[in-house]
Amino acid sequence: MKKINILIALAVACLAGSCSQAEQAELTSPDRHIVFRVKTDSLERMIYSVEVNGTAFIEDSPLGLTAVLANDKGKSVNLSEGFSIKKAKRTSVNELWEQPWGENKINRDNHNELALTLENEEGVELLLRVRVFDDGLGFRYEYSVPSADSLLVADELTSFDFAEDGPSWTIPASTETYELLYRELPLSEVANANTPATFKSGNCYGSIHEAALYDFPEMTLRQVGPLKFKAELAPRKDGFKALVANEFHTPWRTIQISDKAVGLINSPLILNLNEPSKIADVSWLKPIKYVGVWWGMHLGIETWTMDERHGATTENAKRYIDFAAENNIQGVLFEGWNVGWASWGGTQHFNYTKPYDDFDIEEICAYAASKGITVINHHETGGNIVNYESQLETSLQWMEDLGMNYLKTGYAGGISNGNNHHGQLMVNHYQKVVEAAAAHRICVDAHEPIKPTGIRRTWPNMMTREGARGKEWDAWSAGNPPSHEVTLPFTRLLAGPMDFTPGTFDILYENTRNHPKRVLWNCSPDVYMRVNTTLAKQLAEWVILYSPMQMASDLIENYEGHPCFQFFRDFDADCDWSLALDGEPGQFIAVVRRAGEKFFLGAATNESARDMSVKLDFLKKGVEYQAVVYADAPDADWKSNPCAYEIRSLKVNSESEMEIHMAPGGGQAISFIPVEK
Ligand code: NOJ
Ligand code: CA
Repeated sequence: MKKINILIALAVACLAGSCSQAEQAELTSPDRHIVFRVKTDSLERMIYSVEVNGTAFIEDSPLGLTAVLANDKGKSVNLSEGFSIKKAKRTSVNELWEQPWGENKINRDNHNELALTLENEEGVELLLRVRVFDDGLGFRYEYSVPSADSLLVADELTSFDFAEDGPSWTIPASTETYELLYRELPLSEVANANTPATFKSGNCYGSIHEAALYDFPEMTLRQVGPLKFKAELAPRKDGFKALVANEFHTPWRTIQISDKAVGLINSPLILNLNEPSKIADVSWLKPIKYVGVWWGMHLGIETWTMDERHGATTENAKRYIDFAAENNIQGVLFEGWNVGWASWGGTQHFNYTKPYDDFDIEEICAYAASKGITVINHHETGGNIVNYESQLETSLQWMEDLGMNYLKTGYAGGISNGNNHHGQLMVNHYQKVVEAAAAHRICVDAHEPIKPTGIRRTWPNMMTREGARGKEWDAWSAGNPPSHEVTLPFTRLLAGPMDFTPGTFDILYENTRNHPKRVLWNCSPDVYMRVNTTLAKQLAEWVILYSPMQMASDLIENYEGHPCFQFFRDFDADCDWSLALDGEPGQFIAVVRRAGEKFFLGAATNESARDMSVKLDFLKKGVEYQAVVYADAPDADWKSNPCAYEIRSLKVNSESEMEIHMAPGGGQAISFIPVEK
């Protein structure tokens, strides 16, 4: 039977004019197991609730914003009270759409929508747009305030009042950084959190986030009462949150919902709440694997500045380009190529078209092109966006002229004029860079970014970003704990790809710890640095931590001649289809991806050893595959024996089942390549 969207208990008597009775409307998911209810209470405040499988999930929670007139800050504009429902329009969508790259190139958008028009006595019109999918929901505010010219948003009242306590996996809220450790805490003990905020409440996993964040500050959550989490918007310098026109809409407030933790990963909800691509010709948007002159600086054996330890020299560049060309790798990143690094941490004055004298960029780009390799340019801003924006257009044109169409950006430092990283001003800056880059056919990988909210669907040149603790932390701190990389897929990566930069082979830094050139630069000498995983888990992370620009981040000398590097050589960053098979946040994960005719499986665990059996029914029926298994050796252990691995090769098909053993802090990577007949 065709599933239809349901309503509705709209108190029709109230439609004609004002009334004091509560009014309400409801919307169900296509499969009817999620119900979103919205009502105005006796004080005409707007309230919503969510039910899943007939059980309360989010209890009555406030909606709305507060604001003042931009040109008269003493005069508030009522955006949350006195509203009555005027109109309810319902539509449904069930369609497939395609993107040029992504975990899944084809996605299904199947939702019911309720566009509820509300009005208050001050003549403010609010269209509350709600979409409910089988994997969660989103709602956003679309305001029209005819009496005002422009507004300053003072606060957002949206809350998420949980019906039941349960575990959660979050980082603390911060307006400056996401490079923080995850905490597993009962919801009741979370004071504040950034999003995606993942939790288990009742029998369901869920994750609160936002979609399509444009021209508005980011949202974090603050617990304001028992299990009541209120939206907090990153402030402007004057304490207000956003300057908006008299007609404006917010990003979507989203709740992904699934009975299994991996259901959150397999959900395209965030992308579904973003608009289709604004880039008409997407043929130039190609996922790549890359290596780079990068890890040496983090380890302290090279520098970004032009001195005797300078990493980005012409000679070194050619060595990396040769390595990429020989190893089926498409891109090479060079950091520390441009004048300005001596001012990093000071005035942050970088020049984006002036290479250091020992880095002949014309020669390097020509050499790379002759070998079919693309050069990834790097713009560290140190947060000085005034300096960056003044050079943005010329530097992008210069990149285009030199044939560089991938750009890594960075904002490691305080933002110009005392602004924060996550407010409206920076959201607009990050977007400006994406759109300017698109005009030059340049793909962006942003570090110290704003968190992803699915804008990659609309701007697919916004390929990847950091926005969590990445590999770099292993170089100059106690590092990411073994649970980190099995938490990320259920949290930060729900929002979009991450340039985590996995792939350390010299796990214990045996080749660099006592290097004569090594200078510790970002850590105390008392900290013991290493990577807190096994080697096999590093391989698995190339599959697990999805990024369309996927880096093999170790020094290339650590890869040369290493049998395990064959996995990266075979790996294809341009994936077509993905499925998270099994996992629990912070404990373990197994993901499979298909790229063309090949499949890649990555599995990883936290501190605990683990065995899993995986049915290979995702493989194409009737095709025989050569499976190459890169496994932890029986005596491997992230702490005591991290580099012990085994490589096995066997023939499998879609009816096979494989046993996966993972050591403590370990993992396993498997490539499946069709056997040529
Ligand atoms: C922080 C970035 O995350 C890292 O990748 C980069 O190397 C440094 N900043 C320098 O730009
Ligand atoms: Ca960083």
